[in-house]
Amino acid sequence: MKAVAKAHTNIALIKYWGKRNDELILPMNNSLSLTLDHFYTTTEVQFDEALQTDTFIFNGETASDSESAKISSYLDRIRQFAGVQMYAAVRSVNHVPTSAGFASSASGFAALAAASTKALGLDLDRKTLSILARQGSGSACRSVFGGFAEWEKGSRTDGSDSYAVPIMSKTEWDVRVLSVLLESNEKPISSRKGMKRTVETSPFYSGWLEAVDHELKEIKTAIRTKDFERLGKVAEANALKMHATMLGSHPPFTYWQSSTMAVMEEVQHLRDKGIQAYYTIDAGPNVKILCLPEDEQKIRDELENLEMVKGIYGCRPGPGIEYKEKLPSLG
Ligand code: DP6
Repeated sequence: MKAVAKAHTNIALIKYWGKRNDELILPMNNSLSLTLDHFYTTTEVQFDEALQTDTFIFNGETASDSESAKISSYLDRIRQFAGVQMYAAVRSVNHVPTSAGFASSASGFAALAAASTKALGLDLDRKTLSILARQGSGSACRSVFGGFAEWEKGSRTDGSDSYAVPIMSKTEWDVRVLSVLLESNEKPISSRKGMKRTVETSPFYSGWLEAVDHELKEIKTAIRTKDFERLGKVAEANALKMHATMLGSHPPFTYWQSSTMAVMEEVQHLRDKGIQAYYTIDAGPNVKILCLPEDEQKIRDELENLEMVKGIYGCRPGPGIEYKEKLPSLG
């Protein structure tokens, strides 16, 4: 009744932004991501008849009530899926630089989906795991797979055709992602709330949806032909469009800070100097820079000169879900 699973975060190159069903987490558009090796979560789940409630220990400490409630309601879905009623003891270790703003629900829910179902003796295929991970956090469905993965939005109302599929394995193309840490503040508005407000109020949201299918086609061609310039251009344009929808929301909001824009500008300068670097930004101030291995050091050297840069974490394509014998020790 016990299992341990490890899942990595992913960075979306074509973003998921907006839901058509909040409860089942069904997206408005397909998205495409690269799973990253550097940031991951390992989770142990043990179901036990003797437990009176679910318990959740996060990085060695008892989780807050709101975190625990989220995990418990997710476990309810798993219990319903498996037809069991037992409570579980969950222990999770996050390998993400603390308070870096890189913490991701993607690795968390992908690891939880895998460990909890394995602990119940279920031997699920990746598609089913992706469907279950999606119901914890949308982006988690992509972390089931390594390398490049696409989340197909599906069309059914029950969500049975909304899951990620692998596009290219992690060993096939060594694209690098530099995660640039700029701020450790709490984000002003969660991605969940931000995308909801955008869908409901932004007149620019229809423009986002209109553009995304073409961008997806473009990025898939870039991946297939390993055309880095094409990949970077479309990823950057897609991120900018997503962020533009927020400015049209009511009330308007943005995740960018002045430091975010300074790094964006620096990336443009690097390109002017002939270095292939492109940025993408999620629901926070930090910037992720896409590059090829031969340019990584040059980009680091430039960025390290910027005062507002607090850390640079180099990532390579990472693996999908892995089952483990035990949790890693803390520290
Ligand atoms: C900007 O997957 O965190 O990172 O489904 O509500 O849990 P929920 O949202 P989440 O949103 C991720 C938004 C994004 C883009 C992306 O990862 O595709």
